Amino acid sequence: MQFYNIKDENEQVTFSDAITKGIGTAGGLYFPHSLPHFDDMQALLNKDFVTRSAHIVSTMLGDEMPTGVIGRCIKSAFNFPIQLKQISDTIFALELFHGPTLAFKDFGARFMAQMLAEINKNSTNQKPIRIITATSGDTGAAVAHSFYGVPNLEVAILYPYQRISDLQEKMFCTMGGNIHTFAVKGDFDACQALVKQCLQDKDLTNRYRLNSANSINISRVLAQSLYYFEAVAQMGRECHAISVPSGNFGNLTAGLFARQMGLPVQSFIAATNTNDTVPRYLESGNWAPNDTIATLSNAMDVSQPNNWPRVEEIFARNNENLHDVVRGVSVFEAETKHAMRELKDLGYLADPHSAIAYKALKDTLKPSESGVFLCTAHPAKFKQSVEDIVGIDVPLPSEIAAVADKPVLSAVIENDFEVLKTNLLACL
Ligand SMILES: Cc1ncc(COP(=O)(O)O)c(C=O)c1O
Repeated sequence: MQFYNIKDENEQVTFSDAITKGIGTAGGLYFPHSLPHFDDMQALLNKDFVTRSAHIVSTMLGDEMPTGVIGRCIKSAFNFPIQLKQISDTIFALELFHGPTLAFKDFGARFMAQMLAEINKNSTNQKPIRIITATSGDTGAAVAHSFYGVPNLEVAILYPYQRISDLQEKMFCTMGGNIHTFAVKGDFDACQALVKQCLQDKDLTNRYRLNSANSINISRVLAQSLYYFEAVAQMGRECHAISVPSGNFGNLTAGLFARQMGLPVQSFIAATNTNDTVPRYLESGNWAPNDTIATLSNAMDVSQPNNWPRVEEIFARNNENLHDVVRGVSVFEAETKHAMRELKDLGYLADPHSAIAYKALKDTLKPSESGVFLCTAHPAKFKQSVEDIVGIDVPLPSEIAAVADKPVLSAVIENDFEVLKTNLLACL
């Protein structure tokens, strides 16, 4: 499978290169030249999730990796369930938070870790591998758990200081070992910009094979496209819309890739919180990011979404109108709380991110239509706000209870590249 750099089409790489480099020259994102198209969709949907996913990835990669190896990687990466729950006559919730860190990020991070391990077995490059990633809350834990204890590999994770939930922080900042965490005095966009600067920095890249585990890395996005097939398979009826709670827009990109591969979904809803750069852009045609505002759905507090150029690229290449397929909806704080209470009355406990997707779907579906909203995090990750808003106790799952009382080991640093670099050179 070949990829090109969106900023320079002459830069062509294989899947192995795209996953190990993370990002192209001049910070350009890698984009697949072509994705397979599955004509017999029903046969594909009839397979179980792991078998279907292995088949899709093998078809994507062709002879770049043996089918048996891909099957083994997928089986180890996706060793937890995906559940579709019916909320009303026409609305379904796809729960993507049954992995080890209780958020949908487990799919991409675990797939990436498996694939990288396989690719590195055959690599002759002697430079040490270092992973550097920015998180708005959930990627950090998924990446930390996927790479914890891997020999000769160190991981640095940057997150916005005091802008993630306490329990999100506990899930990756208490591990130690090869996981180094930095609380940056800035927002997620600042963390992401620092990571990109590291990936272009000569001192760091001469010394290490630096890689990002953000959704900048195309492997994560390809892995996420696989659960969209599962949504439609479990739904067993026509899917008019999938509502995606969006921040950096990796998840929406993944859904659009699935559609490109033939998945029958009529439209996608890009559901954001108050940080609504994309819904405003879809409405006005002006790209005008505001300062990032802290909200209840902190993992979506992003005003300069990195994956948006990929979304534009999908439609430019297919000669299709983005507005025919993607609709932007922003949901404000009071509406989010209201949606959480409404879901509770329907017998469903949702975290704020998932509630935003629900609200956007409900407001968009016509009476005769059915759709799915993605539940991206377990409500217990946002225990405090969920309890305050819906007024019931949220028990801690064992994954969180095990770390809830551990001390946070992060270094708090200024939003300054040189400060970060000094710290990285000391610990990586
Ligand atoms: C719980 C949750 N929901 C939604 C999102 C947004 O996903 P994306 O950044 O792929 O748009 C994130 C991202 O961090 C998240 O952690």
